[in-house]
Amino acid sequence: MIELDQESIKRSRMRYGEIQLYAGSACPELAQKIANYLDVSLKGRDVIEFPNENLFLKLHSSARGQDCYVIQTHATPLHRNLMEMLIMIQTLRLDYASRVTAVMPYLAYSRSDKKDQPRVPITARLVADMIEVAGASRYITMDLHAGQIQGFFTVPGDVLRGAHVLNPYLRKIRPQMKDPVVVTADLGFAKKGRQYAHVLDAPMSFIEKRRIANDARAEALTLIGDVNGKDVVLVDDEVDTGGTLAQAVKVVKEHGAADVYMVFVHPVLSRNASERLAALPVTEFITTDTLPIPEQKRAFFGERLTVLTVSQLLGEVIRRAHEGRSVGAMFNE
Ligand code: R5P
Repeated sequence: MIELDQESIKRSRMRYGEIQLYAGSACPELAQKIANYLDVSLKGRDVIEFPNENLFLKLHSSARGQDCYVIQTHATPLHRNLMEMLIMIQTLRLDYASRVTAVMPYLAYSRSDKKDQPRVPITARLVADMIEVAGASRYITMDLHAGQIQGFFTVPGDVLRGAHVLNPYLRKIRPQMKDPVVVTADLGFAKKGRQYAHVLDAPMSFIEKRRIANDARAEALTLIGDVNGKDVVLVDDEVDTGGTLAQAVKVVKEHGAADVYMVFVHPVLSRNASERLAALPVTEFITTDTLPIPEQKRAFFGERLTVLTVSQLLGEVIRRAHEGRSVGAMFNE
C-alpha cells in the first residue's frame, strides 16, 4: 500500500465531488459489500419496468458535480440488466454528474470479440460503444475473455484479475493437494493459467478444445501433459454451460487424475450448468462473486462450493480511481 497523498485526494474531491455508488439490479449484494468497504451508503434510485418492458429510472437525490459509480454485472436477464445500466449511466450524465464510471464485474459479450468467420458481428465492440455513448467516462471490469477488448473502449478502464482473490485462497489450500498440476481447459486461457501454476509452484497441462458449432456446445479433445496420479487444478475464466469444464474433468480422469479442483472467475452458470458440474467427481469448486449465484444453484454444490468476494478489490480500485492514485501499486506493478 502506498502512502495517502492528502493533497491529491483533496484536489480530486474538489474536481469530481464525492463518491456516489449506484447499484444495478443484477448484483445488489456485491454492491452493498463494496459500499461497506468504502463506508458509504448506496444512493437511492427507483427502477420501474412498464408492461411493455420499457425501463424508467429516477434518482432519489442529485448527482450534480459528483463522482458516480454504477455497479452492474451482466447477469441474467442479461439484456434487461445491460439496458438498465446504460439508462442509469445516462440519467447520471443528464443530472450533471461530473464523472460516471461503469463498474462491470462481468462484461457480457466478451466472447464475441472478432470476425472469425464471414457475416458475424463483433458484439463486444458494440457493447463498449453503447457504454460510452450512454455517458461513461471510465469503466472498471474483471478478467475480460480477451485482453484486446480494452481497445474497443476509447475511455480509460481498469481491468482487474480474479486471480488477486483466488490466489491467496489457492495458496492456503495448497498443502492439502497432492502433487498438483494446473490444467487449462482452453488454450486461450493458457497464459493466465501459468500465473496460477506459478502461485501453486506446480507444472501445467493443457486441453486442446475445439468448438463444434456456433451454439454453446463444445468438445474437449487432446490432453497435453501429464496428470497421472496427480491432483488437478482446472482453471478457466468463466463457466457458462459447464460443457468445457465437464469435458475437461472427463479427460483428466481418463488420464488418471486424483482429486480435481475447479477454479473459475465468472460463475455464469447458465441453464443446468450447476447441476451438471455438481454431478462431476470434483473435490471443490472455487469461484468469485462477479456474478450472483442464486441459492437454488448453490444448493447443488453444497459444501463443495467456495465463493470468494471481489468486493474489497473493486472497492479499493474505486477508492483509488476517485482519489487519483495508482491501481497498479496495489499489486506492486
Ligand atoms: C472459452 O473460450 C472460455 O474460456 C470458457 O471455456 C467458456 O466460456 C466456457 O463455456 P461453457 O461453460 O459453456 O463450456
